[in-house]
Amino acid sequence: MEKRELLYEGKAKNLWFTDDENMLIAEYKDDLTAFNAEKKGSEQGTGALICKISTELFALLESNGVKTHLIETLDDTNQLVKKVDIIAIEVVVRNTATGSLTKRLGVEDGKVLPFPLVEFYLKDDDLDDPIICEDHCMLLELVDDHDKLDFLRQKGLQINRLLKEFFEQRGLNLIDFKVEFGIDSEGEIILSDEISPDSCRFWDIDSGEKLDKDHFRQNLGNVKVAYEEILKRILGDK
Ligand code: TMP
Ligand code: ASP
Repeated sequence: MEKRELLYEGKAKNLWFTDDENMLIAEYKDDLTAFNAEKKGSEQGTGALICKISTELFALLESNGVKTHLIETLDDTNQLVKKVDIIAIEVVVRNTATGSLTKRLGVEDGKVLPFPLVEFYLKDDDLDDPIICEDHCMLLELVDDHDKLDFLRQKGLQINRLLKEFFEQRGLNLIDFKVEFGIDSEGEIILSDEISPDSCRFWDIDSGEKLDKDHFRQNLGNVKVAYEEILKRILGDK
């Protein structure tokens, strides 16, 4: 499948039309952004690492009954995906408090939460992706009925259960993550976008070391080395 016109230039990836109206090519870039692109950078090879990690995690989720937009990974940085209408809600699931939860509500950084917390954020960079409640989702017509919000919540929790166990077996604590969903041509809600250390936080269970984009956000060192370590753990003996 070949790329045609550019549909959308994102912060970390571009989306291209193909000859098939129901399929797009997602091209991962080496660009890194944080805090709604106030901080920008680029590190060669991170696009390929994110593409590979996202491919592996989507395959894991698919084999456990979570439908995703991924059709096929074409090469190091390109994935063939189903064209979907993205639901403008970022679903964040947290197991341990850090990041904006700590800042917003004063919960102690590193506190293990008594249950996985599901939050909805409005996908709108101009507004800095504000946190929203279910009534806001209905008011803004982000979904057309309330059951879809329950579905997003349940899918977020299911993805959390699967990924948390998978990473625990590999010595990593899944702290939190963000996922996005879209509606495909058959009207089904499927997991879209990506899952990678760009959109998840992982802390090493033994050392507590952070192995995710906080390396870039907080100037902790080499983000590429952290992403390579995540990929190594995912692949295990493969
Ligand atoms: P937060 O603590 O900054 O709210 O982030 C929670 C998780 O969601 C963290 O793993 C990073 C991810 N995330 C994104 O991937 N994109 C975003 O725009 C935001 C706000 C969070
Ligand atoms: N994804 C957002 C950005 O790239 C926020 C973040 O990851 O810190 O700006």
